[in-house]
Amino acid sequence: MISPHGGKLIERLDFSEKSREEANELPRLSVNLDESRDLANIAHGVFSPLEGYMVREDFENVLEDGRLANDLPWTIPITKDISEEDKNRLKEGDTVALFYNDTPIALLNVEEIYTYDKKEYAEKVFRTTSIEHPGVANLMKKKEYLVGGKITLLNDPPTKFPQYKLWPKETRVLFKEKGWKTVVGFQTRNAPHVGHEYVQKAALTFVDGLFINPLIGKKKKGDFRDEVIIAAYDALFEHYYPKNSATLGILETEMRYAGPREAIFHAIMRKNFGCTHFIVGRDHAGVGNFYGPFDAHEIFYEYPDLKIEPLFFRSFYYCKKCGSVVNDKICPHGPEFRVNFSGTKIRELLLKGERPPELMMRPEVADAILQFDNPFVE
Ligand code: ADX
Repeated sequence: MISPHGGKLIERLDFSEKSREEANELPRLSVNLDESRDLANIAHGVFSPLEGYMVREDFENVLEDGRLANDLPWTIPITKDISEEDKNRLKEGDTVALFYNDTPIALLNVEEIYTYDKKEYAEKVFRTTSIEHPGVANLMKKKEYLVGGKITLLNDPPTKFPQYKLWPKETRVLFKEKGWKTVVGFQTRNAPHVGHEYVQKAALTFVDGLFINPLIGKKKKGDFRDEVIIAAYDALFEHYYPKNSATLGILETEMRYAGPREAIFHAIMRKNFGCTHFIVGRDHAGVGNFYGPFDAHEIFYEYPDLKIEPLFFRSFYYCKKCGSVVNDKICPHGPEFRVNFSGTKIRELLLKGERPPELMMRPEVADAILQFDNPFVE
């Protein structure tokens, strides 16, 4: 089995009643649902080797080099922003309780409180400072200070999909039970079109198992809603997937839309789940025209020490002359024969209550989506 990132799977859990009650007496900070999910991701090892929120040295190193202070690859800051008022209320060495509504989610040992430059953060992580970029827009709403320190999880945050929720400890057992020595991870924020299916199946041809790991959490307007993605994959699995070589489990964290840097982050998380390979296709984790279609391939060459194998795919499309789904590596025909898997086109048809053509989306998948009044984030 592949080693977790940094060598060991982090586990920072304390589900004792005593600790939960003690949390009520401590100074508080509130966290939202996405933050509470990331606390659980730290505590259950999805973000191994992180044990908490980044201290300044790690944060600055991540921005500058895409690595932690100890040189381990890491591309997305994992931080907690706090206000000036909170900064004045808390001091280094304090233990703080992080509450989601009325539930104590985690304890935080305050190691360091520091300032940061949002413009620099945006340039380094998102490669743009435009607030048209949803990741930059979120960043600009953050408070002015960051607090770093180790955390301990007291309660798992709520999930709408408990039957699909797997932690790395569990996927590692699952893959072993299935006898999979090589497993390819697939990140997605979408309901599957036929292009997604071909990318997955092309990869699966060369490995023992496929782990489809849709990202559930905050997304931008116009993206598919979480329950729609799950229903669509249920339909695809039922009708088009072999049961012994593919499995589905969710990852609850927000989309950052950071393109290349997020592709590395996505690969690291899947390595922690026990995947040996990771699919990177066209415009991975991209948004609008902020990244080139294969920028997320290029960045992997900067990380020869990542220790999970990226599998790169060119854009898949349907070629009328070939009569199948292909890409420009294997198809010699011109653009006039191509039907692209356009997310925009698919969305337009679904919004009108129509099934996209079968060349683009499986009818069972389209029907599963059309059961929802509005399949998209508003
Ligand atoms: S993402 O934001 O999660 O990357 P999406 O769910 O659309 O978006 O993509 C999941 C994975 O499939 C990514 O690796 C992406 O690059 C790849 N992908 C999506 N569509 C295609 C396509 N037509 N050809 C090749 N790869 C694709």
